[in-house]
Amino acid sequence: MDRQTPTPETQEAPTPEAEEFLADVLAGLAEPPYAIPAKYLYDHHGSELFDRIFELEAYYPTRIELGILRDHGPAIGERVGPRAAVIELGSGSSNKTRILLDSLREPLAYIPVEIAREPLTEAADRIQAAYPGLEVLPVCADYHRELRLPEPTGRPVGHLLYFPGSTLGNFDPEDAEAFLKRLATLAGEGGQLLVGVDLIKDRAVLRRAYDDPEGVTAAFNRNLLDRMQRELDAELDREAFSHRAQFNEELGCIEMHLVSLEAQTLRIGGRDIPFAEGQTILTERSYKYTLDGFAEVATRAGWTVAGLWTDRDQWFSVQLLYL
Ligand code: AVI
Repeated sequence: MDRQTPTPETQEAPTPEAEEFLADVLAGLAEPPYAIPAKYLYDHHGSELFDRIFELEAYYPTRIELGILRDHGPAIGERVGPRAAVIELGSGSSNKTRILLDSLREPLAYIPVEIAREPLTEAADRIQAAYPGLEVLPVCADYHRELRLPEPTGRPVGHLLYFPGSTLGNFDPEDAEAFLKRLATLAGEGGQLLVGVDLIKDRAVLRRAYDDPEGVTAAFNRNLLDRMQRELDAELDREAFSHRAQFNEELGCIEMHLVSLEAQTLRIGGRDIPFAEGQTILTERSYKYTLDGFAEVATRAGWTVAGLWTDRDQWFSVQLLYL
């Protein structure tokens, strides 16, 4: 009898990314309260949905921040001073950059820092074409990690770090303080930081921004379930979960949750994960500040608030910090 050659292994080995995703999901669902790190919301589809969130009427931060930058551009430019090198952290497609560059006096260099290479190079090319005299030095890197920045050839008067979009709100307060300390080191002596800070406001406005009538944020949140099915072979029924946005009064943040609509058991990575009806998975926190509260965090990190601009309703603020 002929001996059969063994069939080659057909199952693909999991990638290191999938292994890390699985480990983080299992750690987050090991015991209640369940939570999964927010970074897993942002896969390719999640990022597309996230871009749509920016366009929503209900999602006020983008619209209002742009309005503040537009309305107070000359004052911001005056405070920052001439010949700055602008370093934008997590620049994406540099949507909020031109409005700043147009406000500044003779900006010397623009250094966008972005982990996604394609949007980074496309945006850098666009900015270079629009500002031929500006030195554009894109850096493809994760700004959460140690950064080495290029030195512009022109002599900038100082470094202006630019961190718009209230992304700082996605850090827990202690992490926000540690991050601001890191930025102080990065900016160096005489450095400045222009940062978008979302403010505490009417709870209904906040909830609507994170649970919009079009359901885009709900789809963004539930995409995490699809990812778990697709990438981790998770056995779950996505229809048995709904999206919820709620304000956590104690912590001062909006939280996004996936709420189990019934008692059920998920099977992920060979483990059974029990859910009671109404039990949730926390997927993201977005901290909102009072003006005083933010000034305290900034001061503890070594910064002084030197300029503060808000909209008429004080829903959002753009703040210039000095060292
Ligand atoms: C990225 N970050 C500033 C957004 C926020 O508002 O916290 C993330 C977001 N999540 C749902 N909607 C927007």
